[in-house]
Parts: sequence; C-alpha cells; structure tokens
Amino acid sequence: MSIQAASNLVIFGATGDLAQRMLLPSLFGLERDGLLPEDLRILGCARTEMSREAFAELCREGIAERATADDQPSVDRLLERLDYHSVDLSLEDSVETLTGHIRRRRADGDILFHLSTAPSWYATICAALAQAGLNDPGARVMLEKPIGHDLESSISINEGVGEVFDESQIYRVDHYLGKDGVQNLLALRFSNALFEPIWNAQHIEQVQITVAETVGVEDRAGYYDNYGAMRDMVQNHMLQLLCLTAMEPPSHFEPTAVRNEKLKVLNSLRPMTGEALDKNTVAGQYTAGAIDGQAVPGYLEELGKDSRTETYVALRAHIDNWRWSGVPFYLRTGKRMPHRLTEIYIRFRPVPHSIYGTAGGAMQPNALIIRLQPEEHIALCLMNKKPGLDRDGVQLSQVALDLDRHNAFDQEHRRLAYERLYLDAIEGNSTLFVRRDEVETAWGWVDSIYEGWQKREAAPKAYPAGTWGPSSAVALTERHGHSWRE
Ligand code: BG6
Repeated sequence: MSIQAASNLVIFGATGDLAQRMLLPSLFGLERDGLLPEDLRILGCARTEMSREAFAELCREGIAERATADDQPSVDRLLERLDYHSVDLSLEDSVETLTGHIRRRRADGDILFHLSTAPSWYATICAALAQAGLNDPGARVMLEKPIGHDLESSISINEGVGEVFDESQIYRVDHYLGKDGVQNLLALRFSNALFEPIWNAQHIEQVQITVAETVGVEDRAGYYDNYGAMRDMVQNHMLQLLCLTAMEPPSHFEPTAVRNEKLKVLNSLRPMTGEALDKNTVAGQYTAGAIDGQAVPGYLEELGKDSRTETYVALRAHIDNWRWSGVPFYLRTGKRMPHRLTEIYIRFRPVPHSIYGTAGGAMQPNALIIRLQPEEHIALCLMNKKPGLDRDGVQLSQVALDLDRHNAFDQEHRRLAYERLYLDAIEGNSTLFVRRDEVETAWGWVDSIYEGWQKREAAPKAYPAGTWGPSSAVALTERHGHSWRE
C-alpha cells in the first residue's frame, strides 16, 4: 500500500505543555502556509474533560503569540479542523470508547497518531489502537522522547510499540532534527565540494558540540531529576548532532540511507569505562548564581531535596573509525549557563609551516563555526593579512567569513521544528525521525557512562549558575592542549 498524506491526526496529550507551546503553534504555521492536507482533521485527546469549544479556545491561546490580525482566517480554518475526546488511559473502557470513536470518524486516507504522553503509556495506547484495527498499513505513530530511561526500558517501549506497528510506521521524534539549522548541517557538508575532502582526521584537529541553556529545570523538576543532562540531552539531541557532523555521505537523502550512516557513527563510539571514564567525563550541578544580572537559585533549592542528578555534562568522545581516528569530539551541555548557545565548532589543523615565521603574530588554525541557536550563523575563520605597509613584516589576523542565515535568506518568520516534523510525518517521510537501532545504540553508550558514574558514587561537581560549568570541564580539554570555545 502506498503512503498517502494523512487525513486524520490524533494527538494524545493534547492539553499538555508541549502541545500548547509547540504542537498547536506548528500546526498553525502549516495551516497559514497552506501546507496541511485539505481534508485533515485533528483530534486532541487527554485526560481532562472538556468540550470541543474549550479545546479550540486552548488552541487559540497557544497560537495567539504567533498569529497576527491578518492570520485570522488561518486560525479559524485550523480551529475548524479540531475535535476533542477525553480519555483515561488507565481505564480499559475509556480507551475502548476512544478507539471506537476514532474508527468511526476516520476518513479515507492515512492516519497519524502522535503520542505525547508519558512514554510508559506508549505500548498500552498502541495495543488498544491495534485492537480496534487502527494499525493498518495506512497508520503511522509518532513518539515523543524520551524513549526509555535506559537501554532496557527503551527496548521494552520499542518492543511494545513494535508488536503492533511495523518499524516503517514508527516515527520517533528528536525535535533537533526538525530544526532548519540542523538540516543545513547536512546541506553544508554534502552540497559543497569544499568541505568533504578535508572533513577527516588528517585535517580536523578537534570538534566541539555545545548545547548551553540559561533555563533551569523550570516546572519539570520531577521529570528532570529522574533523567539528568546525560539522559535528557546527550542520549538524543547531542548524539544526533554528533552523528550528522561525523557521518559518511549517505547515497541519498532518504530514511534508510541517512539512518544507516548515523547508526555507523553510534556503533563506532568508543565505550568509556574505567580510567577513561574519569579522564573523559565530567558531571556538574548548578548552585545559586546569576544570569543576566538576575540572581537564580541552585538546583537543589529548586528541587527542594538532596540529589545527585547532573545538570551539566562534558565529555571527550572518540569515534573509532578511519575518518575520525584520534580526533576528540568534545560534547558539553548544561542548564543555567551564561547564555543560550547551540554550536558546532570544527577546528582544523594548523598549517604545517609558517612562511612568516613568528613575525606575523600568532598563527591560528582555521575553524568552521556552525551556530544553530539562538540565531543561525555560519562562520569560517581564516587568517588574513592586516592591511598596512608592514615595514616590520606582514602582520596576520584571523577574520571570519560570516553567513547570517536569517538575513541571507530574508526569512519572514522562523519555522518551529515541529512544523517540519509534522509535515513529514503527515506525508509519510521518516528521514528526520530516529530509528529504533539508533535509539538503542545511543542508550547502550550512555548507560555504560552512567553505570561507571554510579559505581564511583561521586557527586556531580558544583558550578555556580551563570558560568560555563565546573572547573574540571576546563581540565578535560586543557589536559590535551585544547580549550573550550567561549
Ligand atoms: C528537550 C529537553 O528535549 O530539549 C529540555 O527535555 C531542553 O530539557 C530542550 O530544555 C531544549 O530544546 P531547545 O529546542 O530549546 O534547544
């Protein structure tokens, strides 16, 4: 059966925070640009009892910030597509009533289920859908992260869902893959002849991937304390960024080719155990400090209890294959950093010999900086001659070729990651979704680090909010003659 655009979208967890902040605004973005299938109907499901009108009102509030007065017709069109059905997932009857309702209202065409509930419900929901015959080849299921808490629980979720849906019908979300700048990473690498010949250990000295946030745990302390930065950010977003940076060129931009190459990178990650764990990993936890001149409390104060959960991770990872042999991949992510920044920094090797000797000033190696957040920006740092007559010899200085993607493309508005992801899932393209083997391989690597940390029983190192992490993270790079880009 060939894939058709979905004519039904069912969102489980439709009154949650993600739906309000991201999902409904993204559907609105697609509606405004005429990208939703004409006949698409959207059913929101959640535990709260409410009428269709109340749900539409909630949706209106969610999109208010993005909708201008001119957008009113699009807002109305989106609200007309909406319906709502409450469900208590712990009650079989309630779930059966819902699936019966979905079956009756299902129009011709494919159906997309988006599960944005606690992952522990995924298998139950999928089993109920199958029982109602809603897992036919025209059905697709989109799963939010986290797919598990470790390898074992992720296998259990994947098996539960996989019992009734074929892998080709399962769309695991990593919202970083929906970000335009992240997709541009592949475009940059594989649509320019310039980079690929030097994209290897012979020419690249080190890679740094930073995902820094200024926010603390917000109102998700319960979830976060159970996960920590390693499970919340490294297992998914950071490893996906690493894969896209390090993977071999796929033969096509299509699901199997892209995901096979990402998987090879994950499989080549050197396990970190024993002494390597101490030398190559740092876990931190923020204490009280200040961000942008505002005092902020420490993690434990926000949590209201003692905890060893890390809010910061820095790693020195290695990809053991021919392309990357010996090149360190420094990864760091943390909450309550001085500013929000998602960036990939690729530092090339120095020139083998300077024709200017020491007279030209400090020779710096070339670098490519791909900034994804807060703004999308690409900078290629090159050595230049400082203008002037140079009677004392040529003076050199590093200057960047700068590309501000927002200005370069005169973007009217920035797309939300979920706009891309919804569009693709509705149309049945899984290239930007994560396959089961990727998720599980990533968990395997992360688990081994976690287990090592637990055996050592070491508490995470403290760092004041508003700083770049504990001092041992500095040692992690400096020990090897490198330093974090700041
Ligand atoms: C989520 C994490 O997956 O990504 C959050 O659970 C984190 O803790 C968020 O804040 C970061 O996403 P973004 O798009 O704001 O960089």
